[in-house]
Amino acid sequence: MSKVRIGVVGVGHLGKEHARILSTLPDVELVGVADPSRAQVEAVALRCNTRAFTNHKDLIGKVDAAVVAAPTFLHHNVGTDLLGAGISLLVEKPLAKELDQCQELEQLARDNKLILQVGHIERFNPAYEELVQAGLSPRYVVCKRTSSFPGRSLDVGVVLDLMIHDLDLVLDLVKDIPTHVEAFGASIMGGCEDMAQVRLHFARGAIVDLMSSRVHPEPCRSMDVWGPEGYAGVDFAKRTLKLWQPGEIFRRGFDATKLDAPSMGQFRAELFTRHLESRDIVCEPCDQLTKELSNFRDGLLGRSNVRVTGEHGVRAVALATRILESIERHPWTSSPFGPSGPRDLPAPKGQLFANAKKEAAA
Ligand SMILES: NC(=O)c1ccc[n+]([C@@H]2O[C@H](COP(=O)([O-])OP(=O)(O)OC[C@H]3O[C@@H](n4cnc5c(N)ncnc54)[C@H](O)[C@@H]3O)[C@@H](O)[C@H]2O)c1
Repeated sequence: MSKVRIGVVGVGHLGKEHARILSTLPDVELVGVADPSRAQVEAVALRCNTRAFTNHKDLIGKVDAAVVAAPTFLHHNVGTDLLGAGISLLVEKPLAKELDQCQELEQLARDNKLILQVGHIERFNPAYEELVQAGLSPRYVVCKRTSSFPGRSLDVGVVLDLMIHDLDLVLDLVKDIPTHVEAFGASIMGGCEDMAQVRLHFARGAIVDLMSSRVHPEPCRSMDVWGPEGYAGVDFAKRTLKLWQPGEIFRRGFDATKLDAPSMGQFRAELFTRHLESRDIVCEPCDQLTKELSNFRDGLLGRSNVRVTGEHGVRAVALATRILESIERHPWTSSPFGPSGPRDLPAPKGQLFANAKKEAAA
């Protein structure tokens, strides 16, 4: 096969970008796009010079592979139809809403010897690639991922929507089994949790803290990693990596408590210029979605393996499921009868200023 025939299912916010890139990617023929919204699918098909379908099943028999960028709650239905028809898939993250659905998709791909890739796009972030190259042995990791309210993806909460990116990265980086999960979260907009705070303990001792919110005034996507070799700070949005390592003095059993006052002054003045060595890596701008889709194409053409497999998609959702169970159980007070969980908060919402006024009046 020298050219692969691909379709895109769901051409909303992200799917239309998949279609745009695939329409110009070498060795790919974008055969068609499918979306029940006729106006949307026809507009995207026209822009990408391809055919429009209103049902994903219309792609069966016409394509070798497809990208699934429909809402998450539909990934399982669409995925089983297409994998069942012998079509390899790149499914947007998360692989599916429920763990058993993810496992079913992965098994179906395996049984039919098809490629199943999952859209954990941060794996293609050059700053993350540099972090992996740096070779830290993570002992403590802090992940922060916030966005302003998207008004989309409300079929899932922030754990499956945003935090899932970091869960995949952490599992890739720490290479160990999370043994213990502590989490709490709150629904702000109604429905699922919009913010979540998580601590993970790993079997060989690593600790990971994660914070995500999709109702936040300041967008942020960052990861800090501490290991015996040093520290790394990743800014996924700016695609930068900052590395620090203890300098020569620390490798010789240095103890600051033994310094006299003048030596302490000199040490403090030189700490960040001499004793802690740093490197800043600013990555070249690149389009991660093009890298991800090129990896999918190359996997389909047998040129390389796909970087994020169905198995990776399953393990990320397995961990997300444990986190969601912990969030659901979280008690906000000492009472065993509640309040507990993301929707059952211990006080009425939006009373902060009223309380402050009462206190001021008293
Ligand atoms: N990798 C990332 O960083 C990233 C970013 C955004 C979204 N996503 C994922 O992509 C998926 C889509 O998100 P979005 O933000 O593009 O949502 P969206 O709501 O903008 O688009 C979804 C599209 O799917 C269409 N659709 C609905 N039912 C369908 C069906 N039965 N068959 C085909 N299409 C159908 C809708 O009409 C809509 O056009 C979600 O799973 C989301 O988690 C991933």
